[in-house]
Amino acid sequence: MTIDISRATTDDAAALAACAAVTFPLACPADSRPEDVQQHIATHLSAERFAALAELPGHTMLCIRADGGIAGWSMVVLDQPTDTDVLAALSISPVVELSKFYVHPDHHGRGSASALMAATLELAAASGLPGVWLGVNQENARAIRFYEKHGFGRVGTKRFRLGDRFEDDFILQQALPVRAESAA
Ligand SMILES: CC(C)(COP(=O)(O)OP(=O)(O)OC[C@H]1O[C@@H](n2cnc3c(N)ncnc32)[C@H](O)[C@@H]1OP(=O)(O)O)[C@@H](O)C(=O)NCCC(=O)NCCS
Repeated sequence: MTIDISRATTDDAAALAACAAVTFPLACPADSRPEDVQQHIATHLSAERFAALAELPGHTMLCIRADGGIAGWSMVVLDQPTDTDVLAALSISPVVELSKFYVHPDHHGRGSASALMAATLELAAASGLPGVWLGVNQENARAIRFYEKHGFGRVGTKRFRLGDRFEDDFILQQALPVRAESAA
């Protein structure tokens, strides 16, 4: 099966928002308050926000294109972490952050997420930076298993604010292949 993965542009903003509205709740703990989840989607995952992210320096989004829409997306960020828990946990510096990674449930277990991860790690490696890190909710067993089978290892914990509550994340990292040239 050929999977169409390419960089997102401002033209993708509405389709990215539609995909994110379906996939963000899947990453939240079962006891998350629905109003907090919806508030996060409205604030951080709107079409307007995606249009801005598509043009934000140091931020690159990849998307899986399928059936005329977007079936999954990832975002890598070149800004360095400032969270003290993250800084204490990482053994590699400087790092790329794998800030977002979401695949529509219609495509789970079908290889699309692995193809998106391969393209995302290739993009991260093209930065020339020696490592990549991410945060994942400690209750998100499927995502943790997915990340570990794609080379990430647990190095610490941090907290993620959703509404007026804090959720617990694992911090994962992996080394990136050393490149002679930087292409980010
Ligand atoms: C995380 C995600 C991208 C993974 O994509 P996917 O297509 O589901 O991944 P895969 O099927 O290739 O791998 C999932 C693995 O978890 C396993 N798994 C599934 N449910 C599980 C569970 N409840 N507990 C532990 N492992 C589980 C699967 O068996 C598989 O492992 P295997 O290949 O060794 O059998 C996708 O599920 C997703 O988008 N989820 C919702 C959004 C999300 O949580 N994003 C991450 C935010 S940090």
